[in-house]
Amino acid sequence: MLKGKKIILGVTGSIAAYKAAILVRLLVKEGAEVKVIMTPLSREFITPLTLATLSKNPILVDFFDPEDGRWNSHVEIGIWADAYLIAPATANTLAKMAHGMADNLLLTTYLSARCPVLVAPAMDVDMFNHIATQENIRLLHSRGVHVIEPSSGELASGLEGKGRMQEPEVIVNSLKELFNKNLDTLGSKKKVRPLKVLVTAGPTYEPIDPVRFIGNYSSGKMGFAIAKAFAGQDHEVILITGPTSLDISHPKIRLIRVQTALQMHDACLEYFPSCDCAVLSAAVADYTPAVRAEQKIKRDKDYLHLELKANPDIASALGQMKTQKQVTVGFALETANERENAKQKLARKNLDFIVLNSLNEEGAGFNTDTNKVTFIDNHNKEIEFPLKGKEEVAQDILKKVYTYF
Ligand code: PMT
Repeated sequence: MLKGKKIILGVTGSIAAYKAAILVRLLVKEGAEVKVIMTPLSREFITPLTLATLSKNPILVDFFDPEDGRWNSHVEIGIWADAYLIAPATANTLAKMAHGMADNLLLTTYLSARCPVLVAPAMDVDMFNHIATQENIRLLHSRGVHVIEPSSGELASGLEGKGRMQEPEVIVNSLKELFNKNLDTLGSKKKVRPLKVLVTAGPTYEPIDPVRFIGNYSSGKMGFAIAKAFAGQDHEVILITGPTSLDISHPKIRLIRVQTALQMHDACLEYFPSCDCAVLSAAVADYTPAVRAEQKIKRDKDYLHLELKANPDIASALGQMKTQKQVTVGFALETANERENAKQKLARKNLDFIVLNSLNEEGAGFNTDTNKVTFIDNHNKEIEFPLKGKEEVAQDILKKVYTYF
């Protein structure tokens, strides 16, 4: 997919610059031709020699070659490229890109580039969350720059949070996606009328007694990313979530927190009639204890038998009540016979399409920042995607939903 593609890799001054070496190696391995532009500061983090050796091309830093005075034409490089990937992209570079500043070769090339531009931000959690950075990212995104969302985890500062540059494999997959026919299949993000979208997220907790419950490993990340994707396009979102440590504050998102499958079911049935679409990414418990013990169960026998009864199936209930104008999207989390099971769920729950993710795929499913999904619709059309950040998976879901409106 990347064979013969001409890629500019822009490297800025971040501790994540060391990952640029892996990125270049992966891109070259895929058959791409890579030219690297570095900001002056980035040379403190990784040597130009490393990147020149791996890319098999001289590194571009200055407007002219200090040795022989030859001009490094940013216009020519910008026109040469099929894609311009800036990874890592610091808060400083993102701010300069957003405001049209041109004080180094990486930025002048950005302003001259006619190809798609991708940025993989990398910075400390507070810098990333700062309203100035968020506004800059939003501005770039609204102008068509593809933002590869950073992941969460331990940062160079020792703090924990969002700001880690995505892994090189994920970045390469995002780039592949750009050149992938799947994009054509889904179409570009066409503009649709403002929609009202119901999204479910997270696990449900089914109480056994006052201190224990049956739950699962869902973090809510997938559902929150979906809510953000729709709200980011100005759609109104009702986000109904089971217990999660995540929080979200967005003028277009109404957050409703529930605990049990029954509570999620009741909330969904209340809000769905006024919605255009429901995206059901919650990991809803299929069974709940038949009786909830009033007091904490004592450890006074070797075996304890819990009787479980089936919870209502929310997706099926919405599938039964939906009108011709409403669209329902389900998820299938599978461990075996993935496609077969997903197709059965698609039919049984009367969904318009289902998002299959398998626990057999590394980086997919519960509590990861990434997911690897396949869409299967009720015309039996399948689209298989590479591993991506959950934010990008959410964008793909948004684009697929748009094809129904
Ligand atoms: O939250 P994360 O950590 O980011 O993880 C995301 C995820 C793995 C939870 C998500 O990607 C996912 O796969 N969600 C669906 C998990 C699931 O319960 O799958 P299922 O195959 O058991 O259910 C099929 C569909 O029916 C789902 O849309 C589910 O929401 C729905 N369902 C299931 C049971 C039930 N009683 N009511 C339902 O509506």
